[in-house]
Amino acid sequence: MHDEDKPSPPASDAARSVGTVDLVRIDPAGADREELIAFMTGEVFPFHVGMRPTLEQVEDGIAAGRYRDEDNDSFWIDHVEHGRIGFLRFEEISDGAPLFDLRLASAWRGRGLAKQVLVQAAEHVFTTMPDVDRFEGQTREDNRAMRHVFETCGWVQEAYYREGWPVAGGEPLGSVAYSILRRDWVSGEVTPLRWS
Ligand SMILES: CC(C)(COP(=O)(O)OP(=O)(O)OC[C@H]1O[C@@H](n2cnc3c(N)ncnc32)[C@H](O)[C@@H]1OP(=O)(O)O)[C@@H](O)C(=O)NCCC(=O)NCCS
Repeated sequence: MHDEDKPSPPASDAARSVGTVDLVRIDPAGADREELIAFMTGEVFPFHVGMRPTLEQVEDGIAAGRYRDEDNDSFWIDHVEHGRIGFLRFEEISDGAPLFDLRLASAWRGRGLAKQVLVQAAEHVFTTMPDVDRFEGQTREDNRAMRHVFETCGWVQEAYYREGWPVAGGEPLGSVAYSILRRDWVSGEVTPLRWS
């Protein structure tokens, strides 16, 4: 690769926090299997469709490749001071515009750590997936913390799917879609969205 082809580091303020978290690749069917099962079944994820993953669901997911295959790749989030704080999965990788699933362990929520994870996630995508120009995320409308993280990190809201998020035992809620473009990641600028 020529120097001029290498992705430049992002220039945004949030990007300066890169380096406080590392993404450590998970071997879901091998060395990390038990820890992955313990994490997924030992935590509650109030804004996920499956709020309390069962042992069977996680085992089936591992067997089906939902933690690692051509579309999925999973990582532990290791913080330089706090150690292991959560889990991150890249999804739909082969589509050319990956999504992610971010889950901090409950002990590490509410401390502003997800910002650093999202910055590191974009760094990972745009430096290791040369054909990817869009990195996408979706969250439930009432996940104010995650929405704030997207906005702080320069992601742009692109859609609001009303009643698009099923809720077990309740009315569906809205699903909000964000993305970051490679060119915005490179420049540190946020390209505003023109709705018409
Ligand atoms: C969602 C999640 C990643 C957020 O991570 P976090 O870094 O702990 O988020 P915080 O609670 O520290 O909040 C982040 C920011 O949102 C703000 N915020 C939190 N709740 C808010 C609310 N109800 N209204 C407005 N702002 C809010 C915080 O003040 C903080 O802002 P600051 O950084 O400017 O101080 C984490 O809670 C988590 O892993 N939850 C479970 C899994 C999940 O929901 N994942 C999202 C899948 S897309």
